[in-house]
Amino acid sequence: MSMIEMLVRENIKRLKPYTSARDSHLNGILLDANENSFGSVVENELELNRYPDPSQKKLRQKLSSVIGIDYSKIFLGVGSDEIIDLLVRVFCEPKEDNVVIPEPTYGMYKVVCDINNVSSFSVELNNSFQLDVAETLSLCNEKTKMLFLCSPNNPTGNVLRKSDIEEICRSFKGIVVVDEAYYDFDTEYSLESLLYSHRNIVLLRTFSKAWGLAGARCGYCLADKEVISYLYKVKAPYNLNKLTTDIVMRALDNTDKRDKFINMIKVERQRIINALRKNKKVLNVFDSNANFILFEIENAKSVYDQLAREGVIIRDRSSQINLKNCLRVSVGKPEENDKFIKSIQELT
Ligand SMILES: Cc1ncc(COP(=O)(O)O)c(C=O)c1O
Repeated sequence: MSMIEMLVRENIKRLKPYTSARDSHLNGILLDANENSFGSVVENELELNRYPDPSQKKLRQKLSSVIGIDYSKIFLGVGSDEIIDLLVRVFCEPKEDNVVIPEPTYGMYKVVCDINNVSSFSVELNNSFQLDVAETLSLCNEKTKMLFLCSPNNPTGNVLRKSDIEEICRSFKGIVVVDEAYYDFDTEYSLESLLYSHRNIVLLRTFSKAWGLAGARCGYCLADKEVISYLYKVKAPYNLNKLTTDIVMRALDNTDKRDKFINMIKVERQRIINALRKNKKVLNVFDSNANFILFEIENAKSVYDQLAREGVIIRDRSSQINLKNCLRVSVGKPEENDKFIKSIQELT
């Protein structure tokens, strides 16, 4: 039995997946899925009267060629949030297995564990928001199936050290999920190379950030092909709809525009960081490899409220572990950032 198979829940191994009509045929005189052969009530070129391809073949092929990763290592989901849920459902036995989450980090990992009745244990990132590898590993027991790491980390903005993640992949016998939702903003820190040396790593990516498609809901993961095949086994048959698939196909022809966005965001990011660092009320501004900035300010809650009253909405992260008085601001357009900077300067 492979190491992946040993980690998968027994009921998932035994599961006979639902086979949908479009698994067997995508073309022909299609009288197999109780669709409306006459068409859709809204004119469109996407044949929305027909169910989409469950294996998302064309989009996977295109993504594969754009990112240079083999087709068999790619799974596409309704945002990376869907994939987080599927991973927990494939590997973690409710009420039995557990997950370890270094914090502060993205809140959905814990929420997904709670929904699935899987215990999650929190371990603190150190003062530089890096992993304490020994501490993290010492929290793992024989029932720990998964670790959720996030790099660049939300909300702290920093990348995790590759050598630490490598050591974790080597020493931890479960699945190491590394959420790279913000990786486009500094691709050099990607952990992609670890996909070829460690079967237990899963990288999560999304079209919601640098690509500007948060509303389309599409994310993907890169992993060993056995992990990918289990994700396909448990996903809803038609998770990605044709509208989203079409938009993402078009997005993949527009990498130049994505790169332009990334460059503009990086320029604006530095401008905001500089302005915040000059501001005496701001106690600390953390470096960022993402499209947001975390900063510490006196009376964060009231600063947040005051900005909101002026129509500038940022995120109060001060209730997260070790983030007392910390606020997170997303990098916006120049005029939006100007307004944010001005509001912070003029705080009463
Ligand atoms: C670290 C991280 N992972 C995943 C997501 C969710 O991404 P998606 O829109 O692909 O579900 C977010 C969204 O903010 C995020 O910050």
